[in-house]
Amino acid sequence: MNFDGQMLECLRNAHHIVAFTGAGVSQESGIPTFRDSLTGLWENFDPARLVTLCAFNKDPDMVWGWYEWRRMRVMSAEPNTAHRVIAKMQSVIPKVTVVTQNVDDLHERAGSRNVVHLHGSLHESRCSACGRKHVLPNGVPDEPEGGRRVAPPQCGRCGGLVRPGVVWFGEDLPDLEWKLATQAVLDCDVLLSVGTSSSVMPAASLPVLASQQGKCVIQVNPLPTAHDKVSRFNLVGKAAEIFGELQQAMNWRGADSTP
Ligand code: OAD
Repeated sequence: MNFDGQMLECLRNAHHIVAFTGAGVSQESGIPTFRDSLTGLWENFDPARLVTLCAFNKDPDMVWGWYEWRRMRVMSAEPNTAHRVIAKMQSVIPKVTVVTQNVDDLHERAGSRNVVHLHGSLHESRCSACGRKHVLPNGVPDEPEGGRRVAPPQCGRCGGLVRPGVVWFGEDLPDLEWKLATQAVLDCDVLLSVGTSSSVMPAASLPVLASQQGKCVIQVNPLPTAHDKVSRFNLVGKAAEIFGELQQAMNWRGADSTP
């Protein structure tokens, strides 16, 4: 890809880059995105209706099974070039903040140190009644391709059902994470919006805020999104490929370029 010279200049002069990521950044690690992931047991479900407290209360085994299926896939997945190059930027840019909507840990496993999880984590479950943290086993059991219903564990303190430590539709984003994310956006020079449909609020307001503040917004996505016009530069393609090429164009040496 021939990158725009002005875009490369923005990256070269940046003191603080925010990488705002969505499910597409993990797609090449084998983690299905939200809006193309419903196969097997869940193929007749609208994800927006599956990932709510109401759905969990109504059919906990179905919802827990969906998250366990996702957690197993994440545990057996590896970060890809996009995660790695984003982590590598830390050694060449004075400050890098990753603001992710993803509930996987692939940014951390790629080496990113400053990661804000807006929508929680698959690896931090808690009791749905008393809020006590619940540690899940790390092993990867055999998981059928299409997933299965799984009964959630019970809280060791109050016996309530354990729920995934993620933000569901209708729930507020965690205060601290939202504050950190907005502060980072206000402080940055460049926001890289990577692999997100930019369709879920309030997270999707962050690139808009960056653009309104005159920051350089660069979008990486193989498809058009709601934010094509918000972005000063649109890099059309898959994240791992684009970041591999960007690494070379920017001469960010040392990042592993194998997906
Ligand atoms: P989506 O599934 O809505 O969008 C994924 C985006 O990634 C799409 O725009 C794809 O075109 C793009 N994409 C696919 N493959 C890609 C690749 N290899 N490289 C780059 N981009 C690629 O996922 P999100 O935008 O993350 O929220 O969804 C936002 C939120 O909606 C999620 O955090 C989740 C979901 O429902 C909650 O659960 C609260």
